[in-house]
Amino acid sequence: MSVTLDTVNELIRARLLPFPKRHFLGAQDLDPPDIMNLLDLADVFVDLNRQTTKKMDLLKGRTMVNMFFENSTRTQSSFELAGKRLGADTVNMSMKTSSVAKGETLIDTAVTLNAMKPDLLVVRHSASGAAALLSQKVGCSVINAGDGQHQHPTQALLDMLSIRRAFGHVDGLTIAVCGDVMHSRVARSNVILLNAMGARVRLVGPPTLIPGDADQWGTEVYHDMREGIEGANVVMMLRLQLERMDGAFIPSTREYFRFFGLDREKLAVAARDVRVMHPGPMNRGVEIDSDIADDTSISLIQDQVEMGVAARMAVLASLAARLENDQ
Ligand code: NCD
Repeated sequence: MSVTLDTVNELIRARLLPFPKRHFLGAQDLDPPDIMNLLDLADVFVDLNRQTTKKMDLLKGRTMVNMFFENSTRTQSSFELAGKRLGADTVNMSMKTSSVAKGETLIDTAVTLNAMKPDLLVVRHSASGAAALLSQKVGCSVINAGDGQHQHPTQALLDMLSIRRAFGHVDGLTIAVCGDVMHSRVARSNVILLNAMGARVRLVGPPTLIPGDADQWGTEVYHDMREGIEGANVVMMLRLQLERMDGAFIPSTREYFRFFGLDREKLAVAARDVRVMHPGPMNRGVEIDSDIADDTSISLIQDQVEMGVAARMAVLASLAARLENDQ
């Protein structure tokens, strides 16, 4: 679709509302109307991102700092592009977490950074709660880009944008979140957001990879892959987070694929219009068969990457609008 910059500007003026909070730390920061607003705004940015000229000046004069203590390709570049397309000055700081005194390192760095007067701080850290801790120490808006196994709220938002664009709605859909739920911040943020928007969420995985309190998450729990994805509209696969496992959670990756890896045969029991998602990076042949991951008639995986930039632009623009109101 081709839209003029004037149309985009007009739509943004109509849809841009201040973010409900000063920081975006978890999916619970958004109520259903906030989620709808952000998705509607993100839709405009999808159109903008498909144009030759993608640059706006909504964040002109603002400084955005990416502080990634964990390695990341897509999330970091997605935030960087989102900031740049909105006209912000963006800085990437690649930090390596020292295993000793993580707490001190984080706070020291935050206080130092704060003195440089950034407006938006995007944080990824291996410790749950790191973004929340930081938000208490700095004067700018903090966005959680993944904290340990706790939350990854912009991922849930971009996932929901991908789902809404594929189905036209989210309410009433059955979404099976499959695999290593235990170590997944993506799963935790998605469950909160999907429940808020009226989807039926199922968690599917071996008992060792489903958290003990998952029955209190407002979801159904399945330990058999076929039962779990039967009739599902969306099958969201999770990466086996080997780096976060401190013990033997699965017998072997081969056996894991046999029982919980997504292949054509297992997918056959899902709804006829099923769409498959994965936040990336994928372990092909471990949690998902390449044949499915690369089949664009059912896979939304590339859409998720595209929607990531648009969803993050919506979050950044709304947070900046909030900063404007607060100042
Ligand atoms: C996820 C993450 O880092 O939490 N990936 C991502 O943001 N693209 C999921 C994962 O690492 O498996």
